[in-house]
Amino acid sequence: MALVSAKEMLEKAHEGHYAVGQFNINNLEWTKAILQAAQETNSPVILGVSEGAGKYMCGYKTVADMVKAMIDYLGITVPVALHLDHGTFEGAKACIEAGFSSVMFDGSHYPFEENVEKSKEIIALAHSKGISVECEVGAIGGEEDGVIGGGEVADPKECAAVAELGVDFLAAGIGNIHGKYPANWKGLNFDVLAEIQASTKGLPLVLHGGSGIPTDMIKKAISLGVSKINVNTECQLVFADATRKYIEAGKDLEGKGFDPRKLLAPGTAAIKELVIEKIKEFGSDNKA
Ligand code: 13P
Repeated sequence: MALVSAKEMLEKAHEGHYAVGQFNINNLEWTKAILQAAQETNSPVILGVSEGAGKYMCGYKTVADMVKAMIDYLGITVPVALHLDHGTFEGAKACIEAGFSSVMFDGSHYPFEENVEKSKEIIALAHSKGISVECEVGAIGGEEDGVIGGGEVADPKECAAVAELGVDFLAAGIGNIHGKYPANWKGLNFDVLAEIQASTKGLPLVLHGGSGIPTDMIKKAISLGVSKINVNTECQLVFADATRKYIEAGKDLEGKGFDPRKLLAPGTAAIKELVIEKIKEFGSDNKA
């Protein structure tokens, strides 16, 4: 199946009260594990690519071509969107050119008027090619790929103004943080989430920093309009943990255990298992 825009899958998720996972990719193993997890659970899926990961994988065209070829080779039939995560203005344009099916333009660090103007331009360009767009209001806390957010809570009025531009889904800070949550984290702000959903008139909302949020909060966020949940750190942690165990057990020193296909296999399997778990938690299994 060819890559699809994320618009339709997220509108269906919103209507059906579940969420589609965006799982960030870093390399071939990550991509393969996530695609296989989605296929096995019969779930739509969004592959997220940060600008840093795009560079690491030798550019957006390399990524788009790899993902398309892998979908074909693995016989993936569930809907897959390839999405730029936290894109700059230039990055979003580059991904639209490179064959991504969805982009995020994150203008949350600009003065609001400038965020609106730039969002408008990306939305027009992407929509002219059938590509979906996510924008952001109110920076998400924590650090991701060197980008540090302040952890603000978004202003529902600003969310309404961006929704009116025709954006397909919206990321809005509600106390969520990228990376590991600190022990003294206050939790998600559901009052603000409800206000944002009311002010955006049922637009699918995006929850960034999905790693480590307790299941009851995930479920409540979905019930209040979250239709896309981004997970990155947890995949990295389970990959590192499984790889460390393999090496600490001395398996790389046994026979051909140093072969990268063997060395990376436990980490890859751990990502697949985690993604299957998340898909079931978000309720998108059997929704392909
Ligand atoms: P985590 O790394 O906290 O899972 O957040 C991922 C994310 O929001 C990507 O945009």
